[in-house]
Order: sequence, then C-alpha cells, then structure tokens
Amino acid sequence: MQPILIVHGGAGDIPQSRIKGKLDGVRVAVRAGYDVLKNGGNALDAVEAAVVAMEKDENFNAGYGSVLNLRGEVEMEASIMRGEDLNVGAVTLVKDFAHPISIAHKVLTDSPHSLLGGEGAKLFALDKGFPTVPPESLISENAKQALKDFLKHGEFGRTEIGIMDEGGVGTVGAVAVDANGHVAVATSTGGMSGKAVGRIGDTPQIGSGTYADDKIGGVSTTGHGESILKYCLAHSIIKLMEDNVDADTATKEAVKGMTSRLNNTAGAITLSKNGDVGVYFSSKRMSWAYVKNNTLFYGIEHDQVFEEPYSS
Ligand code: GLY
Repeated sequence: MQPILIVHGGAGDIPQSRIKGKLDGVRVAVRAGYDVLKNGGNALDAVEAAVVAMEKDENFNAGYGSVLNLRGEVEMEASIMRGEDLNVGAVTLVKDFAHPISIAHKVLTDSPHSLLGGEGAKLFALDKGFPTVPPESLISENAKQALKDFLKHGEFGRTEIGIMDEGGVGTVGAVAVDANGHVAVATSTGGMSGKAVGRIGDTPQIGSGTYADDKIGGVSTTGHGESILKYCLAHSIIKLMEDNVDADTATKEAVKGMTSRLNNTAGAITLSKNGDVGVYFSSKRMSWAYVKNNTLFYGIEHDQVFEEPYSS
C-alpha cells in the first residue's frame, strides 16, 4: 500500500508567537519520518525519526525544550508501539538523555519489560550505549519562563503548557502505516509545567498516549494527561474504529467525549490500517502534518488545512 505518516506537535492554548515555529517544526518532522518510509523503511523506524526531529526542536515539549517540574527539572516520558505484534516500549522520569523515544524503542526491541522508569530507565539506556547529556542542556529559556509564570498563577493542568505564555509548547507524536501495511505509533513529552516531582502522565501509558494495532490502526494523543489517562483516550479511539467508525469520526467523538466527561482538553492524530486520517483537538490549537500521495498537508487552527508538494 501507499505509506502514510502523520505527526502532531501538541494541543493547548498555543500563543500566536509560537505558531510559525510549530508549523515549521511539524513539517520538518513529517518529512524526516516519511523519508524513512519512502526509502523502504518500516513504520516503527519512521515514527521514531519523526519524533526525534521534534525532540531536538525547542518549539515542542519533548527532549530539548521540555517543560519543568516544581523543582525546575526536566522529567521526560515516551512510548512506542508496533501494531504487528502489539509489542510496546516506554520510559518515564528520564532526566539526562536527549532522545527518550529512542530509549523507548530499545525497550520494545531489547527488554522483556514494557515500561521502565527513573533510575531503571537510566541503567537500561546506559547499558544499551545511549550517551547522557547534562540535564541543564535540555532546559530552554521558554521552559524556565513557563515555570515562573505557572508559579505566579498556580493553575495546574489547564493545558500541557499552562496559561498562554512563551513557554507554549506541546507533547509530540507520530503515527505511520508502511508499505507492508504495518502500523506504528510514537509519543514523547516533558509533561506539564509545574508538575510534581515524579508525576507520570498519559504519554508513557499504552492505551492512553499511544496505541497501534495492524488490524485496526494507530493513535497518538496530546493534552491534559490526567484526563487522557482516565479516559484511555488512544484506546477509546481504537475501540470505536474496531466497531467500524471511520478514523475521523472516531477521533472527534472520543476527544469530545473526554472533554465533556472530564472538562479538560486534548487532541489526537489517527490513521486507520488503510491510511484514512483523523485529526481533532478540543483545545484552542494543535499543530499537525501528514504526507499522503506526495502531498504534505498541515495546520494548527480548527478547520485549517494547508498543503504543499512533498519532495524528499
Ligand atoms: N499529555 C502530556 C502530559 O500531560 O503529560
């Protein structure tokens, strides 16, 4: 089949000043992932490549640029899932590695376990040869400012990013179906500004932040973690698709359902196993992009779709 890859750069009250950086960043990321598929690579490597591109980019709340906990530290989380055999890898409370998604991928391929946290994730990563980076090197000026703003208003959990401010960044994710019809999903985050030390959100929890099944499709979510995990948002979308609801409707229904039940916002990107696309967010904005049939589609506002030719 024609391969397809979609990414998101986080849902939230994204301020005007962040729009350009996010739209540029999701286009770079979708190309990085789609190039892997175009060159015959598999869905799992493609979603990792797309997420790595966003973990490098300060415009997103993942890797460098992650938001800070109450102690002013980065504590990152990531998960990845392979739809062929439902195998998963996830990490949480990662402080001193540049690419948590790559460690999660290694957990999937090389560990008998599914989710490793904190010291255990670090020991595993070191054993597999991942280099540490100084934790301060992951902290951006915008993330420091976002924590300062949070400490002033103290309104935890309105979005991943707090109230409208320059720290307005978001969780990232990617979903792909490769030429062999295999589905994979990856999601990575710094969590929420002002979170408690040791707080774990939806992103590393399979069925909440990430889900992939070759028989149905794949979903990556973003938004208010405590709500997403209570609603098992990724799997709620998959379940609707299993009951023959199309990808677009399933994404919309589940995100709206979560928001009306739990009164917090979220967003999700979805692909069916046939490559049908679902994009929906109940927050003010969410950046997203996908490549299908040599065209790159992208947007950040509700009902906005830009397109441009894709060339590798
Ligand atoms: N959705 C990211 C988080 O709440 O941690």
